[in-house]
Amino acid sequence: DAIAMHIAIIGTGYVGLVTGACFAEFGVNVTCVDKDAAKIALLEDGRVPIYEPGLDVLIEKNRRAGRIHFTTDLKAAVHRALVVFIAVGTPPNPDGSPDLSQVEAVAAQIAEALDGYKVIVTKSTVPTGTGQAIRRVMEECCPAGASFSVASNPEFLREGDAINDFMHPERIVIGCEDPQANAILRDLYAPLIQTGVPLVATTVETAELIKYASNAFLAVKISFINDLALLCDRLGCDVLDVARGMGLDSRIGSKFLSPGPGYGGSCFPKDTRALAHLARSHQHRLRIVEAGIAINDDMHEAMLGKIKTLLGEPYTDKVAGMLGLTFKPETSDLRESPAMAIAAAIRRLGVTLRASDPVAIPEAATLLPDVTFCEDPYETAAGCDLLIIATEWNLYRRLDLERLREVMRTPAIADLRNVCDPMQARRAGFRYLGVGRR
Ligand code: UDX
Repeated sequence: DAIAMHIAIIGTGYVGLVTGACFAEFGVNVTCVDKDAAKIALLEDGRVPIYEPGLDVLIEKNRRAGRIHFTTDLKAAVHRALVVFIAVGTPPNPDGSPDLSQVEAVAAQIAEALDGYKVIVTKSTVPTGTGQAIRRVMEECCPAGASFSVASNPEFLREGDAINDFMHPERIVIGCEDPQANAILRDLYAPLIQTGVPLVATTVETAELIKYASNAFLAVKISFINDLALLCDRLGCDVLDVARGMGLDSRIGSKFLSPGPGYGGSCFPKDTRALAHLARSHQHRLRIVEAGIAINDDMHEAMLGKIKTLLGEPYTDKVAGMLGLTFKPETSDLRESPAMAIAAAIRRLGVTLRASDPVAIPEAATLLPDVTFCEDPYETAAGCDLLIIATEWNLYRRLDLERLREVMRTPAIADLRNVCDPMQARRAGFRYLGVGRR
């Protein structure tokens, strides 16, 4: 039996925890490190600070098996590990570039703790050139006799489906020039590579770019269909048929062609801006990515237009109900959520707002102070002049339209996720607007 490899993961955010739990599940000995002592205490206590389906069970199972540990002691974790993953945050600066100070600070701390040879891997999404910067920081800080390689191993995990995405990836990208480090990382990913998952082996810089390019392409694909949806509204065409007709061409593909209020979350808005900024700082404009960003920014206004049409003036007399606040279903994440931006804009119009969400009310309440939060769709709709479906939680896919009409003051639906059948809604007596629906 091979001796289990030890790895350390710095940063117990979303990516760090999912990566740690999944490697532990492969039999790897994992130490998760965070400077936030409260978070570590919570994790040691068997509790998971984020909502990700299946993650709590996976962590608990591997914690009991002694394969995953939590600590604030970075130095001790690095000592034990052969591979150290950097999975700390890269929040955006005001100009759109990512703030790399956490990555750099962690790199310096890892360097100071080095003894012998280790592979340092970035999981955090970082601009091309960051690997080199990490190498320089580490060379300055590491003690004599220590040696290391720097690699990039971007993740492609969707929130809400992250464990499945880790366990059944469509590709693994390893950016690393050093053969020894390469062999170690292939060994770490052997359970996946052996089942036939394609491996893209490349340089650190190229791996870093693959991550941005993938997210930007997906974001642009969404902006493309959103822009077409707005055209469909004018032409009287049905965007869902357009998307289906396009998507069946395998060169296009049917995924990521669902129109909506714009993409949100912790990745697409940040990564598209960071890539556009990176290009500009190299005297190049990624015009398609910039257009995708501009279209996404305009979507909120376009959605507000539909809402205003359905409400009618004077807005200050009106009551609207919003279903769904997170940036997508199956997550508690409100970051860059179009629903939250639209909710704030509705409040600015003077409309009274009621809202509900299956998981995000406690956090949303701190961000939207003068909104009434409700338990379920029918309580939310009570007395409303408009119901806005802002996130496509399954719970909102089969609404009882009769019951809604009875509790609402004026029956109208702004279906920003196209979950209702327009004909059915109109037959049930609602004024109805979807996104690009006939
Ligand atoms: C994304 C990428 O999918 C993942 O590979 C990457 O590593 C991290 O970023 P995530 O942000 O969790 O994952 O969400 P995703 O499911 O990709 O959705 C992003 C946004 O796009 C959501 O706001 C969603 O509502 C929106 N979206 C997605 C659409 O509006 N239409 C679509 O067809 C697909």
